[in-house]
Amino acid sequence: MEKHAKNDVRPPSWQRNKWVATAGVVALVLICRAALLPRWTSLNRFCAAGPTAVHGLVSTTTGHVEVNASSPYGEFPVPNDPFRFLPCTFRTVPPDLNDTGHEQTWAKLFDPNPEHWSWGRPAANTSNVVGGGGGGDKYEGRGVYLCGYLDVALDYTNSSSDKRIARLAVTKYQASGLALNSTAGRAGAGAGAGKKSERTIVIEPGGPGGSGTSYAWRAAETVTQRFSDGKFDVLGWDPRGVNISLPAVACFPYDVDRDRWALFSGQYREVSPSPRAQLEIADAMNDAIFRACWEKYGDLGRFMGTAFVARDMEEIRKALGEDELTGYLVSYGTGIGQTYASMFPDSVGRMILDGTEYVRDHRLLGGFGFTALDNVTNAWHDGFLGECIHAGPKYCTLAQPLNNGTQTVALDDLGDRMGKLMEDLIERPVAGYSETSGPTLITYTAMVSAIYGALYNARSWPGLARMLCELEAGNTTLAATFLENWYYDPTQPCPAIVPKPSTEELTSLVVCADSYDAPQPAEGLDWWLSLWANMTEQSWIAGNSRFYSVFPCRQFIKYWPHPAEVYRGDLDHTLKHPVLLIAETYDPATPLRNGRRLAQEMGKNARLIVHHGYGHSSRDTSNCTDSIAKAFILNGTVPESAETDCYADEKPYLYGHKNETSPAGIKLVGQLHEHPEDPVKEWREHLKELAAMNPRLLPGH
Ligand SMILES: *[C@@H]1O[C@H](CO)[C@@H](O)[C@H](O)[C@H]1NC(C)=O
Ligand SMILES: *[C@@H]1O[C@H](CO)[C@@H](O)[C@H](O)[C@H]1NC(C)=O
Ligand SMILES: *[C@@H]1O[C@H](CO)[C@@H](O)[C@H](O)[C@H]1NC(C)=O
Ligand SMILES: *[C@@H]1O[C@H](CO)[C@@H](O)[C@H](O)[C@H]1NC(C)=O
Ligand SMILES: *[C@@H]1O[C@H](CO)[C@@H](O)[C@H](O)[C@H]1NC(C)=O
Ligand SMILES: *[C@@H]1O[C@H](CO)[C@@H](O)[C@H](O)[C@H]1NC(C)=O
Ligand SMILES: *[C@@H]1O[C@H](CO)[C@@H](O)[C@H](O)[C@H]1NC(C)=O
Ligand SMILES: *[C@@H]1O[C@H](CO)[C@@H](O)[C@H](O)[C@H]1NC(C)=O
Ligand SMILES: *[C@@H]1O[C@H](CO)[C@@H](O)[C@H](O)[C@H]1NC(C)=O
Ligand SMILES: *[C@@H]1O[C@H](CO)[C@@H](O)[C@H](O)[C@H]1NC(C)=O
Ligand SMILES: *[C@@H]1O[C@H](CO)[C@@H](O)[C@H](O)[C@H]1NC(C)=O
Ligand SMILES: *[C@@H]1O[C@H](CO)[C@@H](O)[C@H](O)[C@H]1NC(C)=O
Repeated sequence: MEKHAKNDVRPPSWQRNKWVATAGVVALVLICRAALLPRWTSLNRFCAAGPTAVHGLVSTTTGHVEVNASSPYGEFPVPNDPFRFLPCTFRTVPPDLNDTGHEQTWAKLFDPNPEHWSWGRPAANTSNVVGGGGGGDKYEGRGVYLCGYLDVALDYTNSSSDKRIARLAVTKYQASGLALNSTAGRAGAGAGAGKKSERTIVIEPGGPGGSGTSYAWRAAETVTQRFSDGKFDVLGWDPRGVNISLPAVACFPYDVDRDRWALFSGQYREVSPSPRAQLEIADAMNDAIFRACWEKYGDLGRFMGTAFVARDMEEIRKALGEDELTGYLVSYGTGIGQTYASMFPDSVGRMILDGTEYVRDHRLLGGFGFTALDNVTNAWHDGFLGECIHAGPKYCTLAQPLNNGTQTVALDDLGDRMGKLMEDLIERPVAGYSETSGPTLITYTAMVSAIYGALYNARSWPGLARMLCELEAGNTTLAATFLENWYYDPTQPCPAIVPKPSTEELTSLVVCADSYDAPQPAEGLDWWLSLWANMTEQSWIAGNSRFYSVFPCRQFIKYWPHPAEVYRGDLDHTLKHPVLLIAETYDPATPLRNGRRLAQEMGKNARLIVHHGYGHSSRDTSNCTDSIAKAFILNGTVPESAETDCYADEKPYLYGHKNETSPAGIKLVGQLHEHPEDPVKEWREHLKELAAMNPRLLPGH
């Protein structure tokens, strides 16, 4: 069993991908890894058996009450803490719902050894203080990750009769760290150590289905720096149904079972010999999946909609003891934010919605899918290809003239070449080989899905460009490695904790609940066929993926015809504080048009930053965007104009490079991306980033 590294922040083991398949499932697993959707969620997804080790817990018994050993930072959980926070260790996963003594179970998970806790990175100048800050506190000046949970009503509309709960997993990065119990008591240490900050930035990564606790592990320290100079705490939660919140909606026994069918039922339209036959299969499979959800979870599908998620966020605000909600909500998180603002206008504090949807669209059947497509092709054409040529062959392999010619590559020609490459893949998949999994196929479906994912994050472009260039030249090595993301090693032992299947079915329960009352078309499957054709025609890159994210809604109402609550009101309520919207010009998941329509409806209650850059949400960093956002979160400063233009600081392919043609040579920070030394490593980093946002890689959503 792994211990926590002392000086490094790492999520506990249930957040890391290290599962191993056992020999019995090898054949199945290999086939299934060629499937499309969950391609880069985790490498090894299945472990049939394994010891469930329970380590000795450090506790003593007085009467029948468990008293935990004390740490130098005192005892946890602190009495009356609604989140019951413990310093995170690999064991701090919320107790089962059926555990009547859950509080004791939880308290017993407290590990008093600070070396096992997850501490934040030392501040830049902490080296002078470590161990010598006067009180002998070797973690002085470092933030700390706290894990907890919050119980909420499963059915807010019937909570007096229906006593069932949802148990929300919460991870908070406490910026001030902890105070030694000897110095001034946890609540009153000199430098404010151990205290919650005045505001907490609540974060949500989107999906639906993205894990907020994973997002906190990945981004909390960056978020507090970016928006508050490290002043405010950051809290992420797994929305109901997601990840380690309970109940968690996973309708397949193991991920491998899902992968197996995804290959069969998720083929893209262009490679379907008969689109209708393909839809019949997918529709039947959706029926089977919801049937399984129903068998396992009964009426749960009634309680997963966005209105209830907004209510959960209000419970989180109350539990924080803050008068108003401070938040950084991304992608589908902006849908939660808009719904929240409309339902709880008096609780709205400094909320940033980045990668903005227009949540009204999700009331339409298929709206979650077809309103996302506007700018995907623009991002491919102007961004991936156009910026490649702009950066030149030194930085982008595809800008290298064919046959070593001297003529610079023309954008249209490059577009045509890539079109031809895709056509060829539709005609016939390419045979490939990878050292880890042997024979493999480079399929159209997998390639397009990889391209769509890459448009989320322009840092992945140099690697993708090189992969496409080499594939075009007949070298399949990188393509096989990028697309065949499966790695199986039966010699590794199974982890102590048997992995649970990921909660991918949650996505359609939310999307479909939110549009449940949209009239079902009289044409039945024909309507969906026509929608599929329209969407793939509008966007060859995103049309299929987006279509498959909404198609289950045809079957949803058969099982849960009456979700407990949806929000159907307007979005123009007078808010306690205006919200800050950020929408990107080349966003492949949440087009600017949606942010503009939302801003239009919200009127004086919102300000919009038009972020000119690439990728999903404002990850293509801009000092302009960041300075407005920081003044907003830190000081509540609202931009004067309804709309502000901000431009990304750097260009794709050139991140971290000096602009050699600019007279001064602007100073730039960041990683070097010139002909990535290890494109595979870089690609994997990109996939991790995507998975953290949305395990299903259903964009932005
Ligand atoms: C403070 O920490 C020490 C261990 O370093 C422990 O013995 C003591 O009981 C703690 N005191 C309180 C009040 O928690
Ligand atoms: C509680 O639920 C867990 C998993 O959901 C199950 O493994 C366990 O047997 C249940 N315990 C009881 C007492 O029902
Ligand atoms: C360095 O630490 C000192 C003392 O803790 C603090 O006052 C100062 O602001 C820090 N400087 C930077 C650049 O963080
Ligand atoms: C409310 O909960 C009770 C107890 O579970 C149940 O019998 C009843 O049907 C519920 N009412 C609604 C409107 O869901
Ligand atoms: C929770 O999310 C993390 C990160 O995406 C993932 O590695 C882990 O498998 C998930 N756990 C469950 C139970 O879904
Ligand atoms: C994005 O799509 C809209 C149509 O909704 C179009 O008017 C706009 O020009 C596109 N943006 C870019 C940057 O191409
Ligand atoms: C292209 O030119 C480079 C350097 O001039 C050389 O190393 C390379 O072998 C050439 N490639 C081809 C295909 O001619
Ligand atoms: C094919 O591509 C791989 C990965 O980029 C590279 O290492 C290898 O040298 C290439 N093979 C040939 C024959 O060019
Ligand atoms: C698809 O597009 C056609 C032509 O614009 C339109 O008539 C039809 O209603 C669309 N179908 C759907 C389901 O949106
Ligand atoms: C916040 O306000 C303070 C005091 O007015 C000011 O000094 C500081 O620059 C502001 N910070 C930002 C990020 O706007
Ligand atoms: C953005 O801010 C960083 C850090 O403050 C600075 O080094 C960089 O020059 C700025 N870039 C631009 C384009 O203004
Ligand atoms: C470099 O800077 C010049 C002048 O500032 C600008 O015109 C050019 O587009 C920039 N080139 C790149 C590759 O960013």
